[in-house]
Amino acid sequence: MESKNNNGLTSIEDVVAIDGPAGAGKSTVAHIVAKELEFQYLDTGAMYRAVTWWAIHSNIDLDNPQVVVEYTRKIDLKLTPTDNGLKIEVGGKDISQEIRTPEITRIIYKLDENPGVREHLVYLQRLFAMKYPTVAEGRDMGTVVFPKAKCKFYMDALPEVRAKRRQKELEQRNIFIPIEQLLGEIIERDKRNMEREHSPLCKADDAILIDTSFLSIEEVSKKIVDISRERLKK
Ligand code: DC
Repeated sequence: MESKNNNGLTSIEDVVAIDGPAGAGKSTVAHIVAKELEFQYLDTGAMYRAVTWWAIHSNIDLDNPQVVVEYTRKIDLKLTPTDNGLKIEVGGKDISQEIRTPEITRIIYKLDENPGVREHLVYLQRLFAMKYPTVAEGRDMGTVVFPKAKCKFYMDALPEVRAKRRQKELEQRNIFIPIEQLLGEIIERDKRNMEREHSPLCKADDAILIDTSFLSIEEVSKKIVDISRERLKK
């Protein structure tokens, strides 16, 4: 059962909003929750990554915020839900995998801290959620993008646990990075995400906090599915 407005659009209050720092397990869990609820999974970090990928490949000056915003507004970004997650295309090219490199992770702050870039991507995120029943995952889902969502979750975990998870995830893609380096990067990214001026990472007052450090993916997913079913009467 999905709730639609009179005009046939999905109600964005029914979005399941999941926020939290890198490595808390949001993507894996959001994917499972979306499947269980028969919702679509929206990975908003992938959208910031896609814009960064495109800006790098277009050789634009990433240190010029105005140019970056103008470019972002012109991006031909297509998000298609598939059985394996969200397919991300820019200018018709599938870049779903290419955007997950450490290089993009290191440089992305030049775009995700830019209010003009955020404004455009927030607009696209809301459009997506009006089109599909959505599990949206990111840093500002419950606070800025979908403040009226009935189901808000904030997933967190100890930095050491998150670094280890990141290492495993990268190893599966044959990228090997020492744990100390990953831990340092996670701590730095947390600080940047939490202290930035626009849409800083923080728990919405009405979000449910889930510390995933010592919980399995199944336990976390079940908790989110159960609460969402109850609140959405699904
Ligand atoms: O979740 P991720 O690691 O793919 O996110 C990549 C970057 O994008 C990360 O530095 C935080 C940023 N981001 C954001 O600012 N707002 C979001 N809604 C999602 C991600």
